[in-house]
Amino acid sequence: MGNKKVLVWGAGGHGKVIVDALMASGEWKVAGILDEDEKKSGIEILGVKVFSLEAGVAEAAKKLDCGRVAVAIGDNYARFEKFQQSQGAGLTAVNVVHPSAHVSRFVKMGEGVVILAGATINPGTTIEDNVCVNTSASVDHDNYLERSCHIFPNATLTGGVRIQEFAYVGTGAVIAPNLTVEKYSYVGAGALVLANVGLGTIVFGVPAKVRGDQKKRPGKEN
Ligand SMILES: CC(C)(COP(=O)(O)OP(=O)(O)OC[C@H]1O[C@@H](n2cnc3c(N)ncnc32)[C@H](O)[C@@H]1OP(=O)(O)O)[C@@H](O)C(=O)NCCC(=O)NCCS
Repeated sequence: MGNKKVLVWGAGGHGKVIVDALMASGEWKVAGILDEDEKKSGIEILGVKVFSLEAGVAEAAKKLDCGRVAVAIGDNYARFEKFQQSQGAGLTAVNVVHPSAHVSRFVKMGEGVVILAGATINPGTTIEDNVCVNTSASVDHDNYLERSCHIFPNATLTGGVRIQEFAYVGTGAVIAPNLTVEKYSYVGAGALVLANVGLGTIVFGVPAKVRGDQKKRPGKEN
């Protein structure tokens, strides 16, 4: 285990995976897990204690003497809110990169980025703040992932694809080259996307077709 202290915010399944990735890196020491759910307070996840957030994130971080956080929430909007709250509390949002992920040295990365086990990010790709690239996702060359989007496990972005802010790419979905998935949209699991995905739409199927609107939006965008 490393000696750089970090807190994980989120005691769910995604939180467990992020604690594991931080431990596997050999770089970090997870000082505690924070969660709003009082019922989780005091339990342990992978041997790390969960602490209450009753007094707010700044107070919890002060008590645990730690200035860094990894936000471990799958929902883009909730993750974004917590990312903003962490920054407001003066905490640094760290990048979590599992040691088995391959990230080209020619990738630009913002803050609070998560890249999980087995994911590949190839050269020329840009990843903005608060993005999650989940387990074994393949993000090939020259893609652009805007802030707070989420690429679910085993999804494939071929090349030159742009995923706009707050969009989701579902498990195992494939996006053909040079397409844009516009903001707030949701590509369903297993979809084969052969055309641009418009603002706030839900698409799925092979080939993917528009199936509905993604009504959920971030509470506050800036
Ligand atoms: C696309 C998605 C968001 C749609 O959710 P939804 O709007 O709640 O849709 P419903 O579950 O009500 O399903 C509506 C219909 O579409 C079908 N459907 C839903 N998602 C589908 C998909 N990805 N591919 C094919 N058909 C799908 C359902 O079987 C259902 O068909 P029916 O009306 O014939 O019964 C969701 O199904 C999905 O694919 N989520 C991805 C989840 C994921 O990857 N999570 C990873 C977490 S790490």
